[in-house]
Amino acid sequence: MCGIVGYLGKKSATPILLSGLKRLEYRGYDSAGICVLENGALKTFKKEGPIKMLAAELDKQSLNSQIGIAHTRWATHGQPNETNAHPHYDCQHKIAVVHNGIIENFEGLKILLAKEGHKIVSETDSEVIAHLIEKFYHGDLEQAVLEAVKLLEGTFGLAVISESEKKLVAARRGSPLILGIGPDEIFIASDASAIIEYTNQVVYLEDNEIATISEQGYEVKSLDGHNANNQVTEIKWTIDEIEKSGFEHFMLKEIFEQPKTIANALRGRIKDGKIKLSVNFDAKKIDKIIITACGTSWHSALIGKYLLEKIAGMPTEVDYASEFRYRHPIVRDNNLLIVISQSGETADTLAALRETKNCQTLGIINSVGSTIAREVKSGIYLHAGPEIGVASTKAFTSQVASLILLALYIKEQISGELDQALSDELLIIPEKIQTILDQAENIKAISQNFVSAKNLLYLGRGINFPVALEGALKLKEVSYIHAEGYPAAEMKHGPIALIDKNMFVVFIVNHGPIFEKIVSNMQEVRARGGRIIAITDVKDAAVEKLSEFIITVPSVSEELSPLVNIIPLQLMSYYVASANGINVDKPRNLAKSVTVE
Ligand code: AGP
Ligand code: GLU
Repeated sequence: MCGIVGYLGKKSATPILLSGLKRLEYRGYDSAGICVLENGALKTFKKEGPIKMLAAELDKQSLNSQIGIAHTRWATHGQPNETNAHPHYDCQHKIAVVHNGIIENFEGLKILLAKEGHKIVSETDSEVIAHLIEKFYHGDLEQAVLEAVKLLEGTFGLAVISESEKKLVAARRGSPLILGIGPDEIFIASDASAIIEYTNQVVYLEDNEIATISEQGYEVKSLDGHNANNQVTEIKWTIDEIEKSGFEHFMLKEIFEQPKTIANALRGRIKDGKIKLSVNFDAKKIDKIIITACGTSWHSALIGKYLLEKIAGMPTEVDYASEFRYRHPIVRDNNLLIVISQSGETADTLAALRETKNCQTLGIINSVGSTIAREVKSGIYLHAGPEIGVASTKAFTSQVASLILLALYIKEQISGELDQALSDELLIIPEKIQTILDQAENIKAISQNFVSAKNLLYLGRGINFPVALEGALKLKEVSYIHAEGYPAAEMKHGPIALIDKNMFVVFIVNHGPIFEKIVSNMQEVRARGGRIIAITDVKDAAVEKLSEFIITVPSVSEELSPLVNIIPLQLMSYYVASANGINVDKPRNLAKSVTVE
């Protein structure tokens, strides 16, 4: 969600800021802006819509500044238009600010500032920050920012520039910011992909920290003015991982990467008859697990509940992070709180984690060095590489693979025995997934049949009910077609009213004890004229008779089946969306990392 880039160095700032904004496009935005300090004056350019509009405007300028800030806005307060786009200014146009997050007390601050004569021109919550800095500015930008942020309630990642000093000031509370350190240059970014082209040496700002960057270098302090000692760390991934590598979209590339990304999640973790995880809780002392997450990660959590209960015999609850934090949850010292997040920056998930101080916490995170990754007591990194497509695909399967490992680990810790058969089978899952990817053309052809559908139902049972939810979410996100996931047997309690000859129903129908029951649910749909797409590992005459389309997946143990069943559903969503001409990597209204509540 939204992005910040800043630059101070010896090169021309504008192309660097612009390329940084382009790298952040995937996070979702509606307008963009840039401000550089050129010949002693701040020059700002803002545009509603795609970054190419801003780039076209900048092409007409001949800018040669070596210092500037830039922003992609994902509007929370006020229309996405040029006035509301960032940077925002003080009254004198001497201070410019870009802001990610939400200032919750902005109405009160606006009244206060207006009484003092400040003229606020936008509808945003962010503009008050520039005026507050102006109010406190007496020749020292860092000091003025420190004073200003004391009055802010809510969340912010900020980058500030002033006409009077060749400095950038960055500050954060609840919205990620990093510094990129090059030999003669320093960057500010809300996400490493903005700057990885230039440096892999970064400093993560912690919450309530401020960084001041000048030609002499950078200094980080806490917002109460104490020096901080943030280490420089190296980012391990490279620019190639955020390129499309010949695929039309990142989403398709990431779907096809899954044999590799799942293998990465497993690498070195099943060894010598043991599950190796660097977690620091004693499984024997844990009496209940609570998992909290949002969106796709919440779907992995639901699968995790099934796995932890079935494999490890561990009572497990799952909650939406946004609900968990406000419902007075009962978390006891012997519970383990698991937070799952691809980005590691989701505001609701982070807040849920911060809500829970008394018990062990474990993060299942993709983004290395992200805020959640740094705040959990122990963690499992997915090692899936940057996920750029807004719709999560490879992170989902790596989360599920990690949860299988965790369930096996806990079982082994408690009973002293590894489930050898399941862990051996897990290791060959990447090959099985490849066989589904090899059928992509067939899945594409099937998908063409419902590109104009208005509604779809996705039905699955047991561990594959969350897969049905995830399949439906994927389709909604990228194709804007309404889709709902349900436990198959629940259909008769309501959704069956929707079934007619125009309704497509996707069934996940696997071998096992409830196979016959699902076939009965399929009969109920066919009896009402519904059109069935079956995802199945069974060659069965009844399934063939009832289904209009069949996608065959390899037969695997029930615990591993979500990893194979989700693949055709991801591909179907992609092909439907791309047939409808939708920009699948950046679907409307969505942001990659939701850093506001
Ligand atoms: C998935 O396709 C999403 N766009 C969204 O639901 C996402 O999973 C959710 O916002 C949680 O993100 P996180 O995993 O980065 O915390
Ligand atoms: N709340 C601010 C606005 O609406 C910042 C949004 C963002 O993080 O992009 O302008």
